[in-house]
Parts: sequence; structure tokens; C-alpha cells
Amino acid sequence: MAISFLSTFKPIAFFPTQKSSPTPPLSRCNLSLPTVTITEPEPVFTSVKTFAPATVANLGPGFDFLGCAVDGLGDHVSVTVDPSVHPGEISITEIYGTHASSKLSKNPIWNCAGIAAIAAMKMLNIRSVGLSLSLEKGLPLGSGLGSSAASAAAAAVAVNELFGGKLDSRELVLAGLESEAKVSGYHADNIAPAIMGGFVLIRSYDPLELMRLEFPADKELLFVLVSPEFEAPTKKMRAALPLEIAMPHHVWNCSQAGALVASILGGDLAGLGKALSSDKIVEPKRAPLIPGMEAVKKAALEAGAFGCTISGAGPTAVAVVDGEERGEEVGKSMVEAFRREGNLESVAMVKRLDRVGARVVSSVPK
Ligand code: HSE
Repeated sequence: MAISFLSTFKPIAFFPTQKSSPTPPLSRCNLSLPTVTITEPEPVFTSVKTFAPATVANLGPGFDFLGCAVDGLGDHVSVTVDPSVHPGEISITEIYGTHASSKLSKNPIWNCAGIAAIAAMKMLNIRSVGLSLSLEKGLPLGSGLGSSAASAAAAAVAVNELFGGKLDSRELVLAGLESEAKVSGYHADNIAPAIMGGFVLIRSYDPLELMRLEFPADKELLFVLVSPEFEAPTKKMRAALPLEIAMPHHVWNCSQAGALVASILGGDLAGLGKALSSDKIVEPKRAPLIPGMEAVKKAALEAGAFGCTISGAGPTAVAVVDGEERGEEVGKSMVEAFRREGNLESVAMVKRLDRVGARVVSSVPK
């Protein structure tokens, strides 16, 4: 028996290549952004600088509905009141940083940060103030670390704070989703944790319902992130997925996703790793597209990781460990496997869970 994504997931938005489906795209179902403030708020600051963290989406069986934020990696955005910009509009003045790229447009309607900033301005009903935006890219594009979501999250939060923080986190996620839908597909498993921090479960898309899952504060959880020199554009990696799945795979993945959530809440690292490694639907289709990935996973598990899978749409591989030293060893083995089996150079990092999400770094009062 097959379960069709058609009935539940409205696949045009999820799988942009399926253009002939009669089902309306999910992106059009709920992307009419609510105007949250009827009275236009005044800016409270002249300028606000924010940071938003990298994220690991899917976490194995949580395709499109589960993700978490990782500490110490991410993008910065500065938003400034600018009388030279047409009221109600935003201008991108600068894109810089380690991972600034000519692929990033300065036209705000084609830039992740620009799209999310415009969405936040619309929701806040900003018509009388023009803004300029500067983006510092700390995350590489197409790496599977939620690069586009980090830019969008930082921008939405910066605009919101500039005008007094009237939008709540769900509304900020909706603003960020405008950007995700345009650049990679309608999925909130990067943007929600980028904004809210920690682990976030997307319980429903229409209407958007989010659940923050608390990993116990007294437990250590580290991610080994190994990024090879290889690009895996999210759109392409989504196009590789099946439209229909078999019932046994549905049952298996649902039970593993349930175990994953229970393990997160209970702080059970072994259970979390086991569930993270268990996806039978998405990972088997994507892993062969990333040279060496299957060997990298095997190497991580042999070196003592609790679990390993593809981070988001890849190509980064993510493994879970409970200590820094073990993380370094696991990282080394994964890098070797990428070189040996995939002929790819890669970089390993060991990072903690980010429990905060997008935040203000500095602000200039009016
Ligand atoms: N859930 C999305 C995907 C995440 O796997 O396509 C992309 O970062």
C-alpha cells in the first residue's frame, strides 16, 4: 500500500518539480501574511544588529517537521533607519563576511534576508520609514546548515526589534517562511529553530503550529558537523524525493520520529542517536547523491557516535556525541571517510545545542 504525499503535503511547494499537480501549493495556502499591527509603530532604535544560528533540519526521521539550532555558527544582520530609502521599503547596502558570495543578490526581493525583512515590515504595517540592511554571511550556502534561514531569521528579528518587538516568535517564523518558500521550499524546520533556538517540532503548517522541545539543561549534547567541499542545493535534493511511500516505511519512520521526540525530552542521547540514524524514506534517496556519505555515517558510528545522518538537505553530515574529545575523534573519522570514499575534502566542527535562537547583538537608541 502506498501513502501519497499528494493528499497531505500539497507537493508543488514541497517538490517544486511536480508542476502538474492539481493541488494548490501549500505556500499559497498560508503565505498571505497577517498584518499584526494596524497602527504603524515608531522605530525605537536607529539601528539594530542581530545574530541567528545555524540549524540542523530533519534530524533523520523528522523531514520537514523537526530541527534544532547549533551554537556559535551563524549570520549577522544590521538594520538601520535610512531617510534616503523610500518609506516602507528596504535597501541592501552590503553583503560581507567569510561566506559572502556573488550568488547572493542585493535586490531585497531575491535575497533571503531582504524577503524576510520585507515580510516583517508588512506584518508591522511599516509605511513611513525606509530601512537599509547589511548582511554578514557566516554560513556557507547550500551546506545543509540552514544558511538561508539564518539570514532570514536575523533579518526578521532585526526589523521587529527596531520597531519595538511587536511580533511574537510564530509571526517571525511566518515572515522567515516567506523567504524559505522562495529560495528552497516551504519548510520551517530551519527557520523555526533559527528563531526560537533549541529543538522545534512543526506540528502543523496550515495553520502554523510550533512546539518547542526542551532538551534537559543539565545534559551534555554535542553535534559533530562535517561539511565536504560539495554543494547540494536544497531544491535539487528535494526533487530527488519520492511522492509516495510504502506503508511499512511510514510506520517505521513515524515510530522513529516518536522515539526521537521522547529521547530529546528525556535527554536520552543513545535513544536520540539511534532514532536520528533510522530514516528509511529521505536519507536513502539523498545519501547516494553525496559522494562518500554512506561511508561517513558508518565511520561516525564505528568511532563511537550515538547516531549520524544528513544535516538538512546536505551535504553536511551530522553526528551526535556526549563529549568534546569523542566529538573530535568522530569528526576525524568522518573527514577521512569523505576523503577515502567520496574523494572530497571536508571540515569538521564540534558544536553544542543553541538554546536561544535569533537575538539582538547591539542596538543604537533613537
Ligand atoms: N527539511 C528540509 C529538507 C531542510 O530536507 O529539504 C532543508 O534544509
